[in-house]
Amino acid sequence: MAPGAAAALALTLLLAAAARPAAAWDLWALRCGFSADCECGFGPDLRGLECDLAMNLVGQPLVRQQVVKGVREFLENRNPVKPLVMSFHGSTGTGKTYVSSMLIRYLFQGGLQSPYVHQFSPIVHFPHAERIEQYKESLKRWIQGNLTNCGRSAFLFDEMDKMHPGLIDVIMPFLGPSWVVYGTNYRKAIFIFISNAGGEQINEMTLALWRAHKDREEISLQDLELAISQAVFENPQSGFWKSGIINEHLIDLVVPFLPLKRHHVKQCVVSELIQQGLEVRPDVVQDVADSIPYFPEEEKMFSSTGCKTVASRISFFF
Ligand SMILES: Nc1ncnc2c1ncn2[C@@H]1O[C@H](COP(=O)(O)OP(=O)(O)OP(=O)(O)O)[C@@H](O)[C@H]1O
Ligand SMILES: [Mg+2]
Repeated sequence: MAPGAAAALALTLLLAAAARPAAAWDLWALRCGFSADCECGFGPDLRGLECDLAMNLVGQPLVRQQVVKGVREFLENRNPVKPLVMSFHGSTGTGKTYVSSMLIRYLFQGGLQSPYVHQFSPIVHFPHAERIEQYKESLKRWIQGNLTNCGRSAFLFDEMDKMHPGLIDVIMPFLGPSWVVYGTNYRKAIFIFISNAGGEQINEMTLALWRAHKDREEISLQDLELAISQAVFENPQSGFWKSGIINEHLIDLVVPFLPLKRHHVKQCVVSELIQQGLEVRPDVVQDVADSIPYFPEEEKMFSSTGCKTVASRISFFF
């Protein structure tokens, strides 16, 4: 090889080597910077998460920004003072379960199937109101046991509206900065609450904004957070009714899911058609979107069921 070509090759290799370790190190630091985390099948891929959210989450840019920023800041802190506690709110079909599953998939090997990811559904796990004291005891023991096993665990509480009021407060000590679980750093855990509560307030504020000719993304997160917190705290049907979790400000991120518009629903139809391996026919996209109910009654701006029924409707129109 000519000396000039050899020098060029060396330079190329040097540049490539200099570029690669930065990216690889970044990933490595995030994935396996803490050996104990790796043992728990914890290997966050935040770039993958960001990309997937950007490509597939429709009409929720604020959710995307809030979740990515919140998770990134939490994971970059090697000694967080408290666990990351997020609460997802919004009406049906706006993407709450979709985002929580996606997030878990990019954090834990095996996603929702990971032994370090624990999901609670009130109907399945806490069905009988008269057994609330027993549930309190077992929920507390369950969380403590799992945190002792692995500090980097995730706990998902879906359908918080169906949770018996008073039950969830038993986990309060795990959410704040003071609790000590022997031998573990419970402060690395992630808690996600999901509920429809606050959805009405979110929809009303989005509607008011639209009536004022403003973009729905111009909504004030602070105003929304206040309205949602008040709504869940004051609603006896919400699992957070009079809850210390709200009172003590233990939730780090209140994440509002805005109602979806007709063009968002159409995007969901297109994604679903592609996913089902079907041709993206404009008439099908239009028909499915038209078959969904919208509110308010006169203007029909926002989907009453978000994208929830899109998948099941496609077969009627294809
Ligand atoms: N914003 C969105 N972007 C893309 N797809 C969405 C969105 N919202 C909902 N979907 C689609 O609709 C399906 C149902 O949504 P999802 O289960 O996340 O709704 P949800 O907000 O949890 O509703 P519910 O309050 O009834 O539980 C998802 O699996 C996804 O395919
Ligand atoms: Mg859901």
